[in-house]
Amino acid sequence: MAKPAPKKTAAKAGAATKPRTAAEMKRPTPRALTREQLIDELNNDLAKEFQALVQYVQHAAAMTGPQYDAIKAELVVHSNEEHAHAISLADQIDFLGGVPGVGVAEALISPDSKTMLEQDLDGELDAIARYRERIAQAEMLQEYGLRRALEDILIIEEEHARDLQDALSL
Ligand SMILES: [Fe+2]
Ligand SMILES: [Fe+2]
Repeated sequence: MAKPAPKKTAAKAGAATKPRTAAEMKRPTPRALTREQLIDELNNDLAKEFQALVQYVQHAAAMTGPQYDAIKAELVVHSNEEHAHAISLADQIDFLGGVPGVGVAEALISPDSKTMLEQDLDGELDAIARYRERIAQAEMLQEYGLRRALEDILIIEEEHARDLQDALSL
């Protein structure tokens, strides 16, 4: 009896080789944009920082099993660092003449501890891709102070991704 065809027939190698570390990720070609568009993008980044903050608090509390004790403590540290990123982004949006948003992107939860770590890693890899692009965009608009603030955030997101990769033994 024939098995049902896999769902992702059109995805080919792209989805099959989804990067699991920042080093494997492709570098996006940064899109040129206006200052107003950059403010919108930064507000999207801000909503995702709030999401990460909330998600780490939930995961650190809900994760179960002694093998997760060390990473649970680390997730609390991550949560505090996401808070600091949110403050930095809100300041930068204000400096650019924008209004910092208060929206929170939807946090992901799971009853399974390993799935929580995978959700967290996906979020960090997404953040790394976004900030790489945002740094290039800040450079294009000659917003060097913003670029520096984003570089500081990116360094921490890369550390977060490595912590999660280690915990997942990737
Ligand atoms: Fe962050
Ligand atoms: Fe992070």
